[in-house]
Amino acid sequence: MSYLCPLCHSSLAAEEKSFVCPQGHRFDKAKEGYVNLLPVQHKHSKDPGDSAEMMQARRAFLDAGHYQPLRDAICQILTRFAPEKLLDIGCGEGYYTAGFAGALTGLTENIWGLDVSKVAIRYAAKRYPQVHFCVASSHRLPFDDGSLDAVVRIFAPCKAEELARVVKPGGVVITGTPGPRHLMQLKGLLYQDVLLHSEEVESLPGFTQEQTLQIGWPMTLKGEEAVALLQMTPFAWRARPEIWEALKAETAFACETDFVVRVWRREG
Ligand SMILES: C[S@@+](CC[C@H](N)C(=O)[O-])C[C@H]1O[C@@H](n2cnc3c(N)ncnc32)[C@H](O)[C@@H]1O
Ligand SMILES: [Zn+2]
Repeated sequence: MSYLCPLCHSSLAAEEKSFVCPQGHRFDKAKEGYVNLLPVQHKHSKDPGDSAEMMQARRAFLDAGHYQPLRDAICQILTRFAPEKLLDIGCGEGYYTAGFAGALTGLTENIWGLDVSKVAIRYAAKRYPQVHFCVASSHRLPFDDGSLDAVVRIFAPCKAEELARVVKPGGVVITGTPGPRHLMQLKGLLYQDVLLHSEEVESLPGFTQEQTLQIGWPMTLKGEEAVALLQMTPFAWRARPEIWEALKAETAFACETDFVVRVWRREG
């Protein structure tokens, strides 16, 4: 199975240093091993997706193991399905993707990680050569219809129609989203009235929801870890300098996590 050309949608053939389609559209492999399949005309900004700063904060925070129970829970679900072909959408710097590759050793033929952020993919590919990484948008997945057994999407946007197109009948989508109490205490520093995350379940036409798992645990963070957490969230832009200072000075910042993991089965 190969990538699709983002310009004409034919299959891309892998050559030593690039991918090329029958029409001659060519996409070079970067030295880190990833391929950039996001043509300029499909970009909505110069550097779409997470910035280097957000990505580095996320890497430091995830490397410290604070979200490991979420990764373990999804690994356990994936092991049950043993997908041959798996895609992680909005994979960021690859922490979860690499975890899936480890858990599925010997079960899965190929694992792809896709993100619109070039800097995140560069870091991911450099550290995790066991995964195929590409820069692309989840709104136009560079994969053929019905070509994937499973797709994971943790905290990342994606068009439902694209999921239905690429996942084969009987395949699964696993989503990870914030539960109502996720990062309540962090939000409490920024908002006078903390609103709980909405419990509304998204609809994924073409899929049937098969399993829901809610997991959460308390975290106790050192100042720099709490700063990294704030940096990797969408709340960062709201935080005034005194909030950053106060967080940095923390020695044991207590904060709750709350995640909802859902398994959706492709109909048909
Ligand atoms: C909140 S981060 C989650 C990253 C990773 N899954 C994790 O949980 O650590 C969201 C990711 O989605 C990516 N992203 C945003 N819009 C995207 C799009 N249209 N297509 C693909 N990735 C996108 C961002 O660059 C970022 O890496
Ligand atoms: Zn082409």
